[in-house]
Amino acid sequence: MKKEFSSMPLTFKEQWPGELTVMFSWQDFLTAIPSPLFVATSYKRNGKENACLQSWATFIGDKGEFICILGWVSKKGHLYETLKNRRCCVLNFPSRDVYDKCAETIKNNGYEDDEITKSGLTVEKAITVDAPRIRECFLNIECEFLWEHDHFAGSNDVTVALRATHICMDTDRCDENKSGRYGTTGYMYNIHSPRNPETGEILPDCFGALEKYR
Ligand SMILES: Cc1cc2nc3c(=O)[nH]c(=O)nc-3n(C[C@H](O)[C@H](O)[C@H](O)COP(=O)(O)O)c2cc1C
Repeated sequence: MKKEFSSMPLTFKEQWPGELTVMFSWQDFLTAIPSPLFVATSYKRNGKENACLQSWATFIGDKGEFICILGWVSKKGHLYETLKNRRCCVLNFPSRDVYDKCAETIKNNGYEDDEITKSGLTVEKAITVDAPRIRECFLNIECEFLWEHDHFAGSNDVTVALRATHICMDTDRCDENKSGRYGTTGYMYNIHSPRNPETGEILPDCFGALEKYR
């Protein structure tokens, strides 16, 4: 049996003021669609390293170009400012063993912080753009800024399109007979607090891996 949802289930309650009206949406938690986790890195105006843990993104090949669509870039964040200013960044994909350090960048988010180094990760120079890469991440996609678009008039956040200019990838991940890209050692997915519309039960945020059927 399927159920129709045109408005928020009455069982859904905000965990903090604005959770379902200012920051997120009830549909976000009803669907709880997983999306890949990665860290966007760039340099702030003062030359310090910036890191923004990201999800809600997708990746498309079009006419020989590889386009990265970041679905949620906060207009109030450093990433937005650095993209406007330097027009480039690197997308760094962690495996489970380095994820906790990547998540530390959220705490180490001061304007004066070198956010990558302060979180116990190593900066390496990008080849094609003026942005830092995270050495411990198994995949780094160097990108240049293409465009931004408001989600709707007055939205908090924008969608950003980037064009990949260079890719650096761990050779064992390129080989599906070795560690490969998937499973518990590969790409990580964000699972954003699924809720049960029947009971209102709230599961915590978690992350997961991709299992191949065949
Ligand atoms: C699992 C997870 C996913 C996140 N995804 C995004 C995202 O897609 N876009 C975003 O703007 N912030 C996202 N955030 C919040 C940012 O990572 C966080 O606010 C960050 O410190 C902002 O960095 P900035 O000031 O450099 O933009 C996420 C946080 C977590 C824990």
